[in-house]
Amino acid sequence: MTKYTKPIWKLKKKLADCLDKDVTKILDLGAGTGLELIHLFEVYPNASVTVIDISENMLKELPKRNFANHVTTICGDFFEIDFGKNYDAVISTSALHHFKPEEKRILYKKIFDCLKSDGLFLNCDKISLSQEEQDHSIYELENNIDNYKHIDIPLTVENEISILEQVGFINISSSEVDKSNYRLIKSRKS
Ligand SMILES: C[S@@+](CC[C@H](N)C(=O)[O-])C[C@H]1O[C@@H](n2cnc3c(N)ncnc32)[C@H](O)[C@@H]1O
Repeated sequence: MTKYTKPIWKLKKKLADCLDKDVTKILDLGAGTGLELIHLFEVYPNASVTVIDISENMLKELPKRNFANHVTTICGDFFEIDFGKNYDAVISTSALHHFKPEEKRILYKKIFDCLKSDGLFLNCDKISLSQEEQDHSIYELENNIDNYKHIDIPLTVENEISILEQVGFINISSSEVDKSNYRLIKSRKS
């Protein structure tokens, strides 16, 4: 068993521990090298995970994992790739903090549509701790001439929940993880 002592590992463990016990078909958005899948496959060795990630470089680590034959990888942009259908759960860690509210609405609707009824969306990601912080990072991004620096634009928990509700998710809850500016947001398809 892997030891999960660092905050970054604890949050990945918490994500897998929040899945429904009968979960099998999972979509992981922005899995990168697949770190969050290590614990997931310890708990759900028979899961079947589709990974979508835009970075070929990150994805090339996945075939080396001992769970590789349970994973299907698709290299492409969340906004362009067809997600498929009937997932028990969609998961994501540290991958969705680059999108403005209007982009998140499109993405979250796509996630809602690809879940089976009663399916679960678990997103563990950075958040802004205030509206001012969110507005400031979006302002910085929009004025980031020639993309000279990398700017994250996490939304506040309240704005995340509002967008999830707008696209139809219910039973939305947010919990703290060990990193103070991270939250695990859990929502269910009605
Ligand atoms: C910080 S990494 C997180 C990797 C992994 N989930 C983890 O927690 O260790 C974010 C990942 O999201 C992917 N990503 C970001 N924007 C994306 C997009 N628009 N479409 C697909 N993948 C994207 C990146 O390529 C990267 O692998």
